[in-house]
Amino acid sequence: MKKEVTKAIFPVAGLGTRFLPATKSIPKEIMTLVDRPLVQYAIDEARSAGIKEFIFVTSRGKGALEDYFDHAHQLEYELRKKDMNDQLAILQSTNMESGAIAYVRQHKALGLGHAVWCARRLIANEPFAVILPDDVIAAEKPCLQQMIEIYASVGGNVIATMEVPHNKTASYGILEGFDYSSPVFEVKSMIEKPQSAQAISNYAIIGRYILQPKILENLDRMKTGANNEIQLTDAISEEIGHDKSGVYGFQFEGKSFDCGSKIGFLKATVAFGLSHNELRDSLLSYLCDVVGASK
Ligand code: G1P
Repeated sequence: MKKEVTKAIFPVAGLGTRFLPATKSIPKEIMTLVDRPLVQYAIDEARSAGIKEFIFVTSRGKGALEDYFDHAHQLEYELRKKDMNDQLAILQSTNMESGAIAYVRQHKALGLGHAVWCARRLIANEPFAVILPDDVIAAEKPCLQQMIEIYASVGGNVIATMEVPHNKTASYGILEGFDYSSPVFEVKSMIEKPQSAQAISNYAIIGRYILQPKILENLDRMKTGANNEIQLTDAISEEIGHDKSGVYGFQFEGKSFDCGSKIGFLKATVAFGLSHNELRDSLLSYLCDVVGASK
């Protein structure tokens, strides 16, 4: 029987340089998309997929992120006293069970593979999920939940993927499949951030993975790849073709936003604003005015 996936790694050690000066004093992961920090979207997705242990790989300057997960007792008390029950419910919905969150430090920015490897002792010998909070996915059924269901039938390593324009391959890890006709396909090869001329396909890795502990052993070798960094893509790629552990691409249902870039963040803000009950009408009318005025 396949072991259940109950642990997830959230690599959040990046400097967030694309959002300077904001990231001078706030970690990118707690920047707000409508009314919730980016990291809350990632946590909610993981919780709905049955994750019980949340491992953050952090770095210097991420204190505010750790504080975000503390229970806000004083604020809860004030809201209760003022009968602000809706706000209290919102606040309490973010409370995490004591001990459910662990933080490990990545002491040097050596790449995504290295960040994941930093959590190896907490993962031990179990399958685990990796969620990159920059990639926010709007979906009816949360993406990681879709992946857990797929994993229950195929096992191995499952990687979220979607097609991207051919001239954008250098921003992603790229998967080559044997056949793309079904939402889950076996991966033939993968390569990190190829220029479009070298790209083996236009199926990009999106920041959701379910991986076997063997990947952590592969990372032990600290092999450097694209951009001279230790790449998660390379460590997964070593598993391709092994009998016991397949590698699968999964074309999830939903829309992904790259909130690591300004334009991606703005698009996500508009999309989540438009799906927000209280904001939809006024945002839409504002957008129509702006578009009308620019014509
Ligand atoms: C990372 C991965 C890459 C993946 C991307 C998705 O790159 O290395 O394979 O396609 O996330 O967001 P990064 O964006 O951290 O450079």
